[in-house]
Amino acid sequence: MNRLSGAVLSALILVFLLSLSINAEYKHGFVGASKCRVCHMSKKKGNLYGIWKETKHANAYLALTTPEAKEVAKKAGQGDKPPQENPACLKCHVTAWDAPAELLGSKYSKEEGVGCESCHGAGKDYSPIKIMKDQALAVEKGLSVPKKEDCLECHNKESPTYKPFDYETFWAKILHDNPLTE
Ligand code: HEC
Ligand code: HEC
Ligand code: HEC
Ligand code: HEC
Repeated sequence: MNRLSGAVLSALILVFLLSLSINAEYKHGFVGASKCRVCHMSKKKGNLYGIWKETKHANAYLALTTPEAKEVAKKAGQGDKPPQENPACLKCHVTAWDAPAELLGSKYSKEEGVGCESCHGAGKDYSPIKIMKDQALAVEKGLSVPKKEDCLECHNKESPTYKPFDYETFWAKILHDNPLTE
């Protein structure tokens, strides 16, 4: 084998390994925020869906379709590629943007931006009521109750518009809490 084909081969192997590691992240199907809304919208339980809908997270895909986003992309060295199609932007702005199609339920929409499942995990297997009522079981089925560190996956200097992230201040802006649970 000459040097060049050796290099091509190792590049191919690397791409293959990377694709494996990306797909391995997705074990559960995505249902979309409208599914969570069914049970997490009542005022009595803190209107969690309504609160999320008013946050910037719910607008994170649409934010990539603006002229401002194009400017941001250009300055970040991403050229003229539309940001709403560019993995370099989608990775933080859209839930499940690179998940295999067979894991996306009929209500899933990329327009949700950073939906419930970006933070709480893909919900198909934990959202049935019997499972949701049992936290340990729900966690086993893919539910995540995120911590401060999980925010830093997206709130970091790789964001071209990075603002220093302070958990207390940022959490206060997206705070959603069910008054009936402690
Ligand atoms: C069929 C009703 C139902 C659906 C659909 C549902 N949930 Fe729940 N969920 C519950 C119930 C009931 C609880 C128990 C406590 C409560 O009422 O908040 C719960 C609890 C939770 C908790 C708190 C876990 C803990 O113990 O701290 C999270 C987070 C959560 N759900 C997220 C979601 C997300 C995200 C979705 C959509 C993918 C979803 N739920 C869909 C009924 C549901
Ligand atoms: C940006 C990340 C993020 C998004 C998006 C998000 N959550 Fe949460 N959620 C959290 C964090 C962080 C907590 C608090 C965990 C804790 O109490 O330490 C939480 C708590 C909860 C709880 C427990 C509340 C309680 O008081 O028991 C429920 C239920 C929940 N989220 C449902 C949802 C639903 C439904 C959506 C979408 C409509 C959603 N979340 C969107 C990060 C997120
Ligand atoms: C999957 C990526 C992702 C995760 C995880 C994430 N965020 Fe975000 N967040 C974003 C994006 C993208 C925006 C910008 C959306 C926009 O402006 O359209 C944003 C914006 C925000 C804003 C609005 C900031 C402003 O300029 O007003 C707050 C507050 C925030 N996030 C809090 C949090 C907190 C707290 C957590 C962790 C519990 C978290 N985020 C986790 C991607 C994420
Ligand atoms: C590492 C995660 C990450 C990546 C990658 C990323 N963003 Fe963001 N983006 C964020 C976060 C988080 C915010 C909220 C403010 C902040 O901290 O930068 C944000 C905010 C924005 C805003 C401001 C929206 C508003 O409501 O004012 C625009 C526009 C934007 N991003 C465009 C882009 C474009 C274009 C790309 C690709 C070139 C990109 N982002 C890549 C995380 C990311």
